[in-house]
Amino acid sequence: MPPTQPTTQTFRIAAIPGDGVGTEVVAAGREVLDAVAARSGGRIAFAWEEFDWGSDYYARTGEMMPADGLDQLKDFDALYFGAVGWPTVPDHVSLWGLRLKICQGFDQWANVRPVHFLPGVQSPLRKADSTDLDWVVVRENSEGEYAGLGGRNLAARGQGGEVAIQSALFTETGCERIMRFAFDLARTRPRKKVSSVTKSNAQQYGMVLWDDVFKRVAKDYPDVETESVLVDAMSAKFVLKPEDLSVVVASNLNADILSDLGSALAGSLGLAASANLNPERRYPSMFEPVHGSAPDIAGTGTCNPIGAIGSAALMLRHFGLEAEAGALERAIELTTASGALTADVGGSATTDDVTAAVIAHLGQDDADVETRQPTTATV
Ligand code: NAI
Ligand code: MG
Repeated sequence: MPPTQPTTQTFRIAAIPGDGVGTEVVAAGREVLDAVAARSGGRIAFAWEEFDWGSDYYARTGEMMPADGLDQLKDFDALYFGAVGWPTVPDHVSLWGLRLKICQGFDQWANVRPVHFLPGVQSPLRKADSTDLDWVVVRENSEGEYAGLGGRNLAARGQGGEVAIQSALFTETGCERIMRFAFDLARTRPRKKVSSVTKSNAQQYGMVLWDDVFKRVAKDYPDVETESVLVDAMSAKFVLKPEDLSVVVASNLNADILSDLGSALAGSLGLAASANLNPERRYPSMFEPVHGSAPDIAGTGTCNPIGAIGSAALMLRHFGLEAEAGALERAIELTTASGALTADVGGSATTDDVTAAVIAHLGQDDADVETRQPTTATV
């Protein structure tokens, strides 16, 4: 009898590299994912389609993406994004015209950003050497300070007297769903704790609603520890007492800022991975590094691809490919432990060197290298 062919599970992925180092790290991540598929013995495959949307596209067309862009993306299994933003286009135009349009249009309301410390990468945080640090920032990704509500108006004051209003939107539904997501995630982790980030002392409407919903939702999770911390105090806690953190849930702006702080503590912005999830799976979710387009180093071939490759691991887990996700995260740790590091983390390796090292380490196991607990059980 001829050997039976395994059925191939094919995942359709839209790649949107965007601008600057976005194009370099997405190319690296695609190479790694194709290597993961090649190692699967025909069990899995990735069908890629690339979209050239971004600041060059804007220069040609006057838009960051075509008017029917969301329609073109909606049937993919996932979106793999680089970064958007270039000095030739105002940042609010590029961000709103592409990334926020996708996140909000596809109701990707949960943005998961693990803060992961890698072996061989020196952290500016002294505690990182002696403590097993690992936490996840869960960012409300659909409303809050990035709801886009407000306007600019001269209001009859004339030139030089312009007025701008930028309002934040907090809904009970929006707060509740992100908090339940955070509690459910906490239950999958060794430390079952959720820290809510607030600023209800100064912001007496939106943030007080946020706090009220947190207290109400917490009652449904009596097995999960909770705390509520003001955002200014939380930024100090990230530095001084990070061992006390497990899942940190915060509004759109607060989590945006805190997750950059977290990735800097882990060693570099270039290391941080993220998933923009539509947990109901009505729309595709989007996986992207936390960093931006880094115009200062774009084109030099030296950017760190680990954030984008780590985001690819989160995508594999989202597809239910737990073993492949774990193997990829392990390969990342073996890579940094081996000293294959880009300049931002003190090394001299190129983007291609690090990518090749990750691929070489796929499926390898080295008991001498300490691994850390998995960060996100189900994203
Ligand atoms: P950035 O994240 O691009 O760069 C900040 C610093 O981190 C720079 O010194 C850069 O060289 C370094 N860096 C970033 N990624 C790196 C990597 N992979 N490897 C090594 N070093 C890395 O943030 P910045 O400079 O504030 O913004 C640049 C542009 O990116 C702006 O147009 C901004 O709007 C956009 N941006 C886009 C984001 C997105 O698409 N998700 C997120 C943040 C910024
Ligand atoms: Mg940010």
